[in-house]
Amino acid sequence: MALDNCLSKGTLKSVYLDQDTILKVFEKEYPKAEVLYEALNTARVEDTGLSIPKILEVTQIEGKWAIRREYVEGKTLYELMQEKPKDVDKYLEKMVDMQIKIQSKRNPLLNKLKDKIQRQIQELDCINEAQKFDLEAKLQGMPKHNKLCHGDYEPKNIIVDKKGNLHVVDWVHASQGNASADVARTYLLLALDSKKNADKYLDLFCNKTGTDKKYVQQWLPIVAAAQLEKNRPEEKDLLFSWVDVFDYQ
Ligand SMILES: Nc1ncnc2c1ncn2[C@@H]1O[C@H](COP(=O)(O)OP(=O)(O)OP(=O)(O)O)[C@@H](O)[C@H]1O
Ligand SMILES: [Mg+2]
Repeated sequence: MALDNCLSKGTLKSVYLDQDTILKVFEKEYPKAEVLYEALNTARVEDTGLSIPKILEVTQIEGKWAIRREYVEGKTLYELMQEKPKDVDKYLEKMVDMQIKIQSKRNPLLNKLKDKIQRQIQELDCINEAQKFDLEAKLQGMPKHNKLCHGDYEPKNIIVDKKGNLHVVDWVHASQGNASADVARTYLLLALDSKKNADKYLDLFCNKTGTDKKYVQQWLPIVAAAQLEKNRPEEKDLLFSWVDVFDYQ
């Protein structure tokens, strides 16, 4: 079975267009449990009633696990923002409106965002025990909530179809938790690319939802510490600058 139409190539997973569907193929060393977890988590997001590209099949191709899902013809929001920088405000507004819609959904079977962040911070070896203790204490002090959170909500995971409708993909990190934690994470991902866009995004979200910006900013050191777990050298300086601004109030 020749998979020749590759849409995105990663070290451990690649995405192909195959017979008008999307096939996400995982390398042999990728844990089977994580493939099945991605499929299960996506199915749980489908169950919330949110319209997303549906899982069609979990299969194996030449000994590699693969997830087949519905294909959305279109460009990612990231591509459009690169191509039409003057329309960035419009795209960020659409992105925020979709995130608010996502956060209006619930599924009590999803894992808890707080548990995931706590685990990520506990596993860090690049911050000291005192910092870990403070971050975990701060995390415990934050309200839980049970809103649907994408966990990797960024323009590369949003496809815009010909009619301008947004379709969100890549739900492997989906969980239930505090909306502001998910917004802080998106702010972080945007800021790794453009601080200006990140600030516009945060203003838009806070204005549309009446959320106090300070409340989202309180999550920044926590989500920055959790992001350190990904161990990406190019992100370290910015992430540490957020972890270190942690206010010892
Ligand atoms: N259902 C879909 N329809 C159209 N294009 C898609 C679809 N799903 C994914 N893609 C394209 O493939 C890219 C990668 O998909 P996805 O985010 O699921 O994989 P990933 O390997 O987890 O990527 P990353 O680790 O970079 O987030 C997307 O950014 C998008 O360009
Ligand atoms: Mg992705």
